[in-house]
Amino acid sequence: MPAKQPILRVQGLRKNYGGVPALQGVDFDVAAGEVCGLIGPNGSGKSTLFDCCTGLQASDAGKVLLKGTDITGWPMHRIAREGRLLRSFQKTVVFQSMNSEDNLILAGQMSRFPGVASTFSIGRASRARVRALRERARELIEISGLSRVAHLPAGHMSGGQQKLLQFATMLMPEPELVLLDEPLAGINPILIEKVIASIEAANRRFGITFLVIEHNTDVLMKLSHRVIVLHQGRKLADDTPEAIVRNPEVIDAYLGG
Ligand SMILES: Nc1ncnc2c1ncn2[C@@H]1O[C@H](COP(=O)(O)OP(=O)(O)O)[C@@H](O)[C@H]1O
Ligand SMILES: [Mg+2]
Repeated sequence: MPAKQPILRVQGLRKNYGGVPALQGVDFDVAAGEVCGLIGPNGSGKSTLFDCCTGLQASDAGKVLLKGTDITGWPMHRIAREGRLLRSFQKTVVFQSMNSEDNLILAGQMSRFPGVASTFSIGRASRARVRALRERARELIEISGLSRVAHLPAGHMSGGQQKLLQFATMLMPEPELVLLDEPLAGINPILIEKVIASIEAANRRFGITFLVIEHNTDVLMKLSHRVIVLHQGRKLADDTPEAIVRNPEVIDAYLGG
């Protein structure tokens, strides 16, 4: 029997900026339901890889397949509109005067049916949809640990709570694969724990697949089922976190520093 189709397949991906080779032929798969870490020194091509997967940058060679569909060369809006692949906090807006549930329902309405009728829940189909959105919103509030403050206008929540609400907002359109570029950068240790718990809960509860770039290696190793290491635009290693932290090449290129 053939192996299950990966949710993301990157094949021979290359990208040059002028004379600078950012990606020099990168191959890897991400399986559906995985939390996969992506690490490497500054300038190793991690963000460029995300740019090429989301259509922000056109690659020079290679392929990107999303659930078997070749999305190579698709412009960003087409990949975004298709709805399955999402990059961290793309288009995330939190309205300060609205509570968490209303923010989330609105985000859900805007993402799939950005019309007047659906936004103002006119008609029976629309009311059924609002019920479904409310249910997802409540689950996401729970997943993000916002239950105690969910009744407050977002503007009255702490900065950390608003960040968690942004995370929940991002998941309202039911993405299947989410790319997070340094989600923990510049946030305090307590919030780090909460963001990590939210990612884990979203992965477990909804089966959402995550590919996460993160410099906080300790945290990333605990979160990830598998870790890919980039070095100078090439894949240096692709293994379990336990094997990655013991890999001499990875220690030399990145972890040892
Ligand atoms: N938009 C750009 N224009 C020109 N060079 C870029 C651009 N983005 C990235 N680079 C270069 O490509 C290489 C990889 O960068 P990047 O993908 O940002 O690495 P990382 O995210 O791993 O730090 C670096 O040499 C960087 O300077
Ligand atoms: Mg980067």
